[in-house]
Amino acid sequence: MSNPTYSAPARALHWLMAILILLTIPAGLIMVQEGLERSVQNALFIFHKNVGVALLILVLLRLFWRWRSPPPPKPASLPALQAKAAELSHAGLYVLMIAVPVAGYVRVKAGGFPIESLDALNMPSLVPRSDALAEVAKLVHYGAGLAIMALIALHVGAALFHGIVKRDGIFSRMWPPLGGGGR
Ligand code: HEM
Ligand code: HEM
Repeated sequence: MSNPTYSAPARALHWLMAILILLTIPAGLIMVQEGLERSVQNALFIFHKNVGVALLILVLLRLFWRWRSPPPPKPASLPALQAKAAELSHAGLYVLMIAVPVAGYVRVKAGGFPIESLDALNMPSLVPRSDALAEVAKLVHYGAGLAIMALIALHVGAALFHGIVKRDGIFSRMWPPLGGGGR
């Protein structure tokens, strides 16, 4: 069965962000462990914060592109409940792809710490220096981080179910990452 696919830029952005998110999450989980060698911890923090900021810029670009070039309609053969579940989970992923890095930004800047890429561009902090604000943002970053991990697990499970078990053409709406099949 051949469905129309997501546009080439939408697919490229999806897979680029998926790879970066799947590197940013373990970096975040490892860098907060006790007893880590200082140089390793610093490298992971630098990677996590700066790639995290890049992810925030990428998701905004992606939403802009989605607005200009909406996704292909879902195949009529997809049960309405599954279509609704996909719609809701995708919306949740977008909300969290914004909330997680924004909370990370606030946690770091309100805490008075550097974000090397933005500091190199002389970008002033967008939030005041405040330990209380940093503490709230840390909790939000943690909670939203757990939520995005859970939603990604569900999302990848559903994608693989469609791609390997059902083989109903849903997977190839987002595949391949580069070239081909674009609208
Ligand atoms: C999509 C992007 C991001 C994801 C998925 C993500 C995910 C995570 C995860 C899973 C952790 C470990 C759990 C925790 O202790 O909170 C973490 C920690 C952390 N993240 Fe992120 N993060 C992202 C972006 C950012 C950004 C943009 C910044 C700052 C510029 C940031 C700063 C931090 C900091 C400072 C910690 C350590 C928490 C603490 O103990 O203060 N993160 N992140
Ligand atoms: C790891 C982080 C990931 C995130 C945050 C993510 C996020 C998203 C979002 C938001 C959409 C909806 C696109 C739109 O309508 O604008 C989407 C679609 C899709 N994703 Fe992911 N994704 C991730 C990883 C993956 C992986 C690893 C796979 C495959 C194993 C996958 C397979 C798909 C497929 C097949 C679609 C199209 C679904 C459809 O046609 O309705 N994604 N993804």
